[in-house]
Amino acid sequence: MSNYHIKHLEEYYQVYRKSVRNPEIFWEEIAEEHFMWRKKWDNVLSWDFTKPEVKWFEGAQLNITENCIDRHLHIRGDKTAIIFEPNNPEEEAQHISYRDLHDKVCRFANVLKEQGIQKGDRVCIYLPMIPELAISVLACARIGAIHSVVFAGFSSSALATRINDATCKMVITSDGSYRGAKTIDLKGIVDEALKECECVETVLVAKRINTDIHMETGRDHWLQPLLDEAYHDCVPEVMDAEDPLFILYTSGSTGKPKGMVHSTAGYMVYSAYTFKNVFQYREQDVYWCTADIGWITGHSYIVYGPLCNGATTVMFEGVPSYPDFGRFWEIVEKHKVNQFYTAPTAIRALAKEGVEHLEKHDLSSLKVLGTVGEPINEEAWHWYDDNVGKRKAPIVDTWWQTETGGIMITPIPYATPTKPTYATLPFIGIQPALMDENGNEIKGNQVDGRLCIKFPWPSMARTIWGNHQRYKDTYFSAYENKYFTGDGALRDEVGYYRITGRVDDVIIVSGHNLGTAPIEDAINEHPAVAESAIVGFPHDIKGNALYGYVTLKETGESRNQNNLRKEINQIITEQIGPIAKLDKIQFTNGLPKTRSGKIMRRILRKIAGKDTSNLGDTSTLLNPEVVQDIMDNAL
Ligand code: WT7
Repeated sequence: MSNYHIKHLEEYYQVYRKSVRNPEIFWEEIAEEHFMWRKKWDNVLSWDFTKPEVKWFEGAQLNITENCIDRHLHIRGDKTAIIFEPNNPEEEAQHISYRDLHDKVCRFANVLKEQGIQKGDRVCIYLPMIPELAISVLACARIGAIHSVVFAGFSSSALATRINDATCKMVITSDGSYRGAKTIDLKGIVDEALKECECVETVLVAKRINTDIHMETGRDHWLQPLLDEAYHDCVPEVMDAEDPLFILYTSGSTGKPKGMVHSTAGYMVYSAYTFKNVFQYREQDVYWCTADIGWITGHSYIVYGPLCNGATTVMFEGVPSYPDFGRFWEIVEKHKVNQFYTAPTAIRALAKEGVEHLEKHDLSSLKVLGTVGEPINEEAWHWYDDNVGKRKAPIVDTWWQTETGGIMITPIPYATPTKPTYATLPFIGIQPALMDENGNEIKGNQVDGRLCIKFPWPSMARTIWGNHQRYKDTYFSAYENKYFTGDGALRDEVGYYRITGRVDDVIIVSGHNLGTAPIEDAINEHPAVAESAIVGFPHDIKGNALYGYVTLKETGESRNQNNLRKEINQIITEQIGPIAKLDKIQFTNGLPKTRSGKIMRRILRKIAGKDTSNLGDTSTLLNPEVVQDIMDNAL
């Protein structure tokens, strides 16, 4: 079991050194000892960041679901793979064993095949957090279809864009979903989206809320009768190491969402290895990540990473506030959760409710607490440490991205001493670099710069679906021979990293990555709007909230401004989803622009954050007079 499970700091440094001195030997050993291969690789790694092209374990053949399910059957067939905790606490939780999971995934895979899905086809999954979501993901992987999970909070038009971009042949959805006290008409959203999607031939519908819905003859099928008829075993498709496993969309700072493409072997090895170490998972543990499988966190650390390690992983359908703010702690107690992984925005929302909810529950099972998605502020970090972990469960502040596929900078619990707000040290095999504005690497400690990665790691995204040039431009063109993350970071006196936030036009709201451009595009569709600009401003719970500056076509627009604000947020909700709604909308007479016509967001960001002491030189602007006007009317 060499190097697979790191248990103290010295061991971390030893293994880290080995992993960067001899990456190929290091990853070959991990891959060889801990995974099931149909055929071993010819070459561990080939890479060229100028193209960019990266290949791990080339020549190898495997199926990731054999690693997630089949190989566990004879040793832990009866062990619970997935605990499903429903939205309604009165509804019984489901325990799905590895043996049951095998049966369910195989049946589902056979249904996909019967419906004409073949290796390489794209399947869009638009489901709430119910077992069918994890099962359909694995069923696609079983037959070599590429899954594209779209978070079921996205609107019909966001869904349509993603379905069309990947030309999905099938959509898997449900009649509806529960979210706290509300129900959502998911199938209605799919029907609306499919008016714009010619590529979709089939829709499979899981029953969840038992409402009467429209079923399009010839296109839509109820899932359950098909599963009941299907054969319970399915021979896994043999995949090449570099075959795409899935596409997952992330917002860009410009234009349409980017379909990040993840490979099979490298993604498997890295998500499994990070899971084991970052959460110090042991055989009897129950692990719970509160993310949705619609995000990368759910792909890597609810489904693939945990299942590859034969873990018990909790899937929670609901929200932290339903029926009250004690729900998370009730679930921790009920299932005796050992590792708990959530987002800073959830921690802040729960902290605001006080500790009385916590005090009602026994949280003594907790051994590791994780956080991900955005920088965690000091107050939230301490609240989590003091009240949830009682200072006994180390916090792993894990920094990574949809693009990186797995955790990149993180403490290893019980090995790395933690430090509030710091993601601390690079994970095994990860070689970060901080860059200055002239493209030079900043060496030494107590420095800050733009965060890049100098060397490939197994789970990095290989391309953007259908647009390799954009992949190159976005990630490999800012700095020569390096992957650029889009984040700023500092390195303290002992070499610990702290992520300071995005340095591009992406804003993280409640842990959701939002590009400014798509929101502005949506606003600009309002007939009264001439132009708009979105910036983030600090918010107690969401981390950042959105502030929109909107210039109307006719100055002195006679309509009620509050009605206009509602209409603008309505368009955003329709085009992107409620997560992108603006907290503040200021109507302006113009937006500050450079002489080349680029909106100066830096100034707008300062005004939104009420930090106007140092706006910098505004005299070079095309229209310096608007700045004072915007300041005078700021919200
Ligand atoms: C961006 C990536 C990775 C899963 C969830 C988000 C920010 C993520 C941290 C952290 C500070 C963080 C970064 C990153 N971020 N984790 N621990 N500390 N910032 O995935 O939607 O692709 O967003 O989230 O800005 O670039 P994503």
